[in-house]
Amino acid sequence: MQYIEPLYRPPSEARSLILQVTNGCSWNHCTFCEMYTQPQKIFQLKPLATIDAELEAIAATGVAVRRVFLADGDAMTLSFRRLRDILCSINKYLPDVQRVASYCLPRNLLHKTAAELAELRELGLSLYYVGCESGDDLVLARVRKGETYESSLAALQKIKAAGSKSSVMILNGLGGNRYSQQHAVNSARLMNAAQPDYLSTLVVSFPLGVQRFQEGFGGEFEALEQRGLFTEMHTLLSELTLAQTIFRSDHASNYLVLRGTLGKDKQKLLEIVASALDEPGSVTLRQEWQRGL
Ligand SMILES: C[S@@+](CC[C@H](N)C(=O)[O-])C[C@H]1O[C@@H](n2cnc3c(N)ncnc32)[C@H](O)[C@@H]1O
Ligand code: SF4
Repeated sequence: MQYIEPLYRPPSEARSLILQVTNGCSWNHCTFCEMYTQPQKIFQLKPLATIDAELEAIAATGVAVRRVFLADGDAMTLSFRRLRDILCSINKYLPDVQRVASYCLPRNLLHKTAAELAELRELGLSLYYVGCESGDDLVLARVRKGETYESSLAALQKIKAAGSKSSVMILNGLGGNRYSQQHAVNSARLMNAAQPDYLSTLVVSFPLGVQRFQEGFGGEFEALEQRGLFTEMHTLLSELTLAQTIFRSDHASNYLVLRGTLGKDKQKLLEIVASALDEPGSVTLRQEWQRGL
């Protein structure tokens, strides 16, 4: 495969074939995200003929591919018809594929109907990684996500209505000190309304410095220290009323690793966070050098 690097995928797609059907991100304005800001990552579609040729080459290796992840940042920006064509090619060349997944901005689904998503699901596309980041409109505006509580909820509901699964990312620390509480409470409110299949939290980090991010906050952003991050996580978990959501806070950006199923494990997870807050040293934390994006 010929990739235009850097290439990002969710941790749970580590064993999937990464099929780069676009380069970069069609939005690329979120102030916390530097993933597609290098010159070679300017957004463009990959021609269908090139995708076909890549799939044909993989088929020729004889390797049985079971999972495919459509890269880059928001492959769901592609039209329904283009996605359908790509999925048909995947099925033609890789008949063992059981699941196709993609990152998805809520607005990528604005002009797609639940019936179209159901057709894509029939063709294999059944899991969407949605970077909600927050359920708080003020925080979303400050980080220039271009989404709101309502737009995020509408997309998650459409995914559910189509019979597909959603995996949501929320960013711990995104509102800084000042908006930590409302970020946690409104993110929980969004998750409670949407009831996603998977929820993961990542700690917001600033690989290229905080300046671009700080501009969105008019210079008033104050990053949370570890204790603030744990307090925010405690509030988020306390406010969550999820029936059956697999919760993961194990991405390399996290200091405190949490895994469980919500609501069943809510109390257990809250106790771990409380221990990290009240008895420092009693819970193993990732060291700074072990963290990454
Ligand atoms: C490659 S991006 C693609 C997501 C997709 N474009 C969307 O917005 O839904 C995947 C996720 O990485 C996370 N991410 C990006 N920059 C980050 C940062 N500086 N710190 C922590 N997480 C970050 C965000 O949660 C983002 O949704
Ligand atoms: S978070 Fe997603 S939408 Fe925002 S810039 Fe990064 S890839 Fe694009």
